[in-house]
Amino acid sequence: MFTQLSAAQPDPILSLSLIYNADQRENKMDLGIGVYRNNHGQTPIMTAISQAETRLLQTQTTKSYVGLAGSEVFNQAMIDLLLANTSAHSRTVGVQTPGASGALRMLADLLHVANANTTVWLTDPSYVNHKPVMEAAGLKVKFYPYFDRVTKQVNTDAMLSALAQAGSNDVVLLHGCCHNPTGADISLEDWQAITALANKNGFMPFVDMAYLGFGDSLEQDGAGLKFMADNIEEMMIATSCSKNFGLYRERTGAALLVGGNISDAQKAKGRILTLARASYTMPPDHGAALVADILTDSALTAVWKQELTMMQQRIIGLRQRLVQTLTAKGCDQFTFIADHKGMFSMTGLSPEQIMRLRDEFAIYAVGDGRVNIAGLQEQQIDYLADALIAVTQ
Ligand code: LMR
Repeated sequence: MFTQLSAAQPDPILSLSLIYNADQRENKMDLGIGVYRNNHGQTPIMTAISQAETRLLQTQTTKSYVGLAGSEVFNQAMIDLLLANTSAHSRTVGVQTPGASGALRMLADLLHVANANTTVWLTDPSYVNHKPVMEAAGLKVKFYPYFDRVTKQVNTDAMLSALAQAGSNDVVLLHGCCHNPTGADISLEDWQAITALANKNGFMPFVDMAYLGFGDSLEQDGAGLKFMADNIEEMMIATSCSKNFGLYRERTGAALLVGGNISDAQKAKGRILTLARASYTMPPDHGAALVADILTDSALTAVWKQELTMMQQRIIGLRQRLVQTLTAKGCDQFTFIADHKGMFSMTGLSPEQIMRLRDEFAIYAVGDGRVNIAGLQEQQIDYLADALIAVTQ
């Protein structure tokens, strides 16, 4: 049977990490996969996570099953983190999932159960895994205009006029903040306009919130989502603790369901639990147990917020210094990097230029032109600037 299979297409991001690991050059630079690195090139375990882990080791008495929804303390903590002080808070339920990819898939499966004719609208471009996940759930996928490849910002007019065509069989997927792969975010006014369109035309918003706290601040990054949740009957949210808690390999995320009322939300949760049972049964506990501990302990929450702010500030500093260095070398082609939010920037480099960066300079970026600014070290900025100038001249 296996002999009849055609070979799998490698994932453009995960496969890049394998090529990078095999590269023997000492000056190699990984700006591919979306992980935060410090100035030593390491992805540290955050201090609050280490402290929570020590406590968990001392207090945990069993490894018995938790339940289909995972930790309800974690689920409530995610609802509090994303939707505190909104009218949606009391009509939202959560399901712990294996990362945000797990949440995306469970929510997509739920959409298919509710309406097999659903079309999910994705930003053009979007996170590479959005389309595969939606299609694997049997949903149709369509792209709406988003990134202006000339200005390197959101093309708001084109986006809103396309979304004005979305109707009641449609779901519009939005990036909560720190758009992956472009770094170009919609404004609060755009969130308001999209909310008005959803209410007028009946499409369901589906927000992927994977980088909360990496853009401007926890509060500012979550403001658009909060506005929408406050002013809409139903919506879905996939959220991740991979980046803002540094829990990548622990696969810690949640699917949140905002209902018109709590009993509708609970009904939807019940259907997700059935879908999860038929898939992975229940999520891994460790990461969620740590996050639940941190977010229910004010001292640990403060430690976490402080480190998250430091990481966010460092990314902003890297963006600014890269642009300053390029400008000092006479290159003003990449000034937009200082305006982008979060880990990523879409550079506009062609696949050929990205290959030159890899072959000639040992710099790894995703083939579509995305670079992970959060993977950069201070002492690499000058070298990166020279390489960018070399491949664009
Ligand atoms: C990325 O976009 O690099 C990350 O979100 C990792 C992933 O899951 O693809």
